Amino acid sequence: MNILKKFNLKDLTTFGIDAFTKQLLIIEKDEDLETLPEFISSDKSLILGGGSNYLFTKDFDGVVLHPEIKGIKVIEETDEHITLAVKSGEIWDDFVEYCVRNNYGGIENLSDIPGQAGASPIQNIGAYGCEVRDTILSVHGMFLETGKWKTFTNAECDFSYLTSIFKAEFKNQFFVTEVAYQLSKKNHKLVTHYGSVSEYFQDGKEITPRTIREAIKQIRASKLPDPEEYGNAGSFFKNPVISTEKAEKLQKQHPDIPLYPQNEKQVKTAAGWLIDQAGWKGKSKGNAAVHSKQALVLINKGEAKGKEIFQLAYSIIEDVQQKFDIQLEPEVNII
Ligand code: EPU
Repeated sequence: MNILKKFNLKDLTTFGIDAFTKQLLIIEKDEDLETLPEFISSDKSLILGGGSNYLFTKDFDGVVLHPEIKGIKVIEETDEHITLAVKSGEIWDDFVEYCVRNNYGGIENLSDIPGQAGASPIQNIGAYGCEVRDTILSVHGMFLETGKWKTFTNAECDFSYLTSIFKAEFKNQFFVTEVAYQLSKKNHKLVTHYGSVSEYFQDGKEITPRTIREAIKQIRASKLPDPEEYGNAGSFFKNPVISTEKAEKLQKQHPDIPLYPQNEKQVKTAAGWLIDQAGWKGKSKGNAAVHSKQALVLINKGEAKGKEIFQLAYSIIEDVQQKFDIQLEPEVNII
């Protein structure tokens, strides 16, 4: 294990904002977790993988654990499926590319999502009509406070929209070391119904895991900022879920509001649309800005402080609340 003192997390987060941690522990193998100092407790530690879902508004007075455990192993294979055990420090998109290259289907719609494989179950990453929970068999790791190891089955992960038990009940308590994914080798269930994806295939292009990955890469590049150019954390807000009653009322006032019914009582709407309609798209406050092509994404225009991004987010939340009576919730973890 590599231990670094007073470490600047700027390069470990995609927002690229200065924030120091007292200590950074780089976990390079499972055994490193067995030799952790005793002071690891969830209120004084956090687990930072690719750092694509964190906004630091101040220094962190504790210990940051960073997984660097690597490896992809086949654990089962039939004519139809393959099960792969992937170590948590693998780069997620490298794993997607590996699957597509081998014609393993199931995660191609989740192309170009920044971060590590270990974060995929925590967030239950989802995009373009797919969620990673549909491919996860199990999640293995260790509880930091007790040193107990556990393998969670898919059902035990308690997955729902952009969250899981690891982001809720066991937030920063369970260190994921390995995730097992089951992927298809043939008869892939390829998902292209999402608006921009179906448009891409309108002209009759062949639909394969490879072409879907190409479609997604193109769509994302046209809408989302490149973190190399502008620090950002992808969607800053979750898409809010509102009551069917409220949705009907809003639809009368705004006939083009995007509405995705979840069940009889609940409807999801698009945070990006609400922020856009509230006039925030492309607007800046100091060095923090709302991306000009996707209002759901807040960006660091250069030397933004975490507090500036936070203040911009707060102004947006207040404004959307006032205009639509909807409370936006950040998707990003704010420290
Ligand atoms: N919209 C606007 N203006 C905007 C942005 C969006 O009017 O500035 C409208 C769009 O026209 C569309 C609706 O809002 O009708 C939904 O927008 P979009 O299809 O761009 O996707 P989203 O629901 O806003 C979610 C994920 C994204 C993911 C896309 C594609 C969340 C919070 N975000 O965005 O995830 O890439 O779907 O599946 O669920 C991420 O997590 O970092 C991320 C980018």
